[in-house]
Amino acid sequence: MSDRYIDFANSSIGHRLVGALGLPSPVRLERWQAGRLRPVEGALLIGGGPLADKVSALANRLTDAIYSYGTEPSLATAWIPGHGPKLKAVVFDASHLLQTDQLKQLREFFQPLMKNLDHSAHLVILGRAPETLSDPFAASAQRALEGFSRSLAKELRSGGTLQLIYVGDGADDQLEGPLRFFLSPKSAFVSGQVIRLKACATPVEDWTRPLAGRKALVTGAARGIGASIAETLARDGAEVILLDVPPAKADLDALAARLGGRSITLDICAEDAAAQLIEHLPDGVDIVVHNAGITRDKTLANMTPEFWDAVLAVNLNAPQVLTKALLDSGTLRDNGRVILLASISGIAGNRGQTNYAASKAGLIGLAQAWAPLLDQRGISINAVAPGFIETQMTAHIPFGLREAGRRMSSLGQGGLPQDVAEAVAWLAQPGTGAFTGQALRVCGQSVLGA
Ligand SMILES: NC(=O)c1ccc[n+]([C@@H]2O[C@H](COP(=O)([O-])OP(=O)(O)OC[C@H]3O[C@@H](n4cnc5c(N)ncnc54)[C@H](O)[C@@H]3O)[C@@H](O)[C@H]2O)c1
Repeated sequence: MSDRYIDFANSSIGHRLVGALGLPSPVRLERWQAGRLRPVEGALLIGGGPLADKVSALANRLTDAIYSYGTEPSLATAWIPGHGPKLKAVVFDASHLLQTDQLKQLREFFQPLMKNLDHSAHLVILGRAPETLSDPFAASAQRALEGFSRSLAKELRSGGTLQLIYVGDGADDQLEGPLRFFLSPKSAFVSGQVIRLKACATPVEDWTRPLAGRKALVTGAARGIGASIAETLARDGAEVILLDVPPAKADLDALAARLGGRSITLDICAEDAAAQLIEHLPDGVDIVVHNAGITRDKTLANMTPEFWDAVLAVNLNAPQVLTKALLDSGTLRDNGRVILLASISGIAGNRGQTNYAASKAGLIGLAQAWAPLLDQRGISINAVAPGFIETQMTAHIPFGLREAGRRMSSLGQGGLPQDVAEAVAWLAQPGTGAFTGQALRVCGQSVLGA
């Protein structure tokens, strides 16, 4: 469903009216286009502590316009406020800020930039996870980065986003994958997130096809977010296997044929679903995306047992049972990736969704609990928690609630299935193996459950 308000707010009359009435004025977000190679098309500014050198060392693979600000003279051109170009991307290493009085460097670095950001600019702050620091004051300073970055993300205009990445031991040289995602339009609808990155043993070989040679299963792939995930994984080189219920066979087969993949028609709640799935995957699988999901909304007072059971069965029980079966049978190979489609309802709660929110929170818990157990096999398991995404599922929401869902975020609009798909594709990469047990929100920094 299209968002007519964005069209209106970006028309010449609408723009003036929206401004005069003080209404939200969401901009059209820049998104990744097929055939694009460079993650950053425009100026990348790098500054801050010692990790800035690590970023500079890989920066020419991100863009050919590299600037530095506030650091020692480096190979990059110095950026001068008011004279330098508008900035499309910014990386600031704050990992060296270990005392309260050093935090002012955040203000000193970012303040001159704020009026010099390009449309849909992507900002990243690097730090060290507070729980890994023994000095309480240092841990407190690094935790302060979280409040700073989430607030600054809310102040960005024109489609800007900002994330904080806590870089773990041994991961200093593994920033390329996350920066390719978080500095590019692939993360157009991700903002205000705090990410914990650990070291990963398996690097990406070819950034143009990071999933080459990998087999990916996507459930609920006939339409909506699942279809977009299948397309994006195929774009990134994966061989895709699409699964959906038998009534969706025609759409599923057509998409599988277009992507050069194959299809499986199966109800994931069927009693023999696990056995059937294993039979369909004799050569194993590297990436499993549990996307199939349903809503049956009612306040708890009116919730029928059927509504409750159906949602818990599809959204939570099936991913649990199928993942366990794929692991136990060895069908899910070492260094595999499991990605669970949760929801911000599972973080914030949502009126009329006790069943749905319970199922989605359960998925986040599943990722957290299973991650350390799968570490040894190099398998990562993460949840992706979308906010309001424009699909058939959200098209059925009553008008008032739908509008509220769209506008109640820093980006003031709903996301597209592609936004969720890009996050899943990043988590599916070999080099993202150390990002595990986490929930990545794709919600435009929704105010719900932030
Ligand atoms: N659209 C949103 O705003 C939003 C927000 C947060 C989370 N999500 C989650 O993202 C996922 C995809 O959402 P969507 O909006 O694309 O939904 P959708 O309803 O458009 O598509 C869901 C797909 O899952 C399939 N499916 C349902 N039950 C199945 C079963 N038992 N076996 C196999 N396949 C089954 C459906 O046939 C359908 O093709 C869901 O898990 C949903 O909860 C969506």
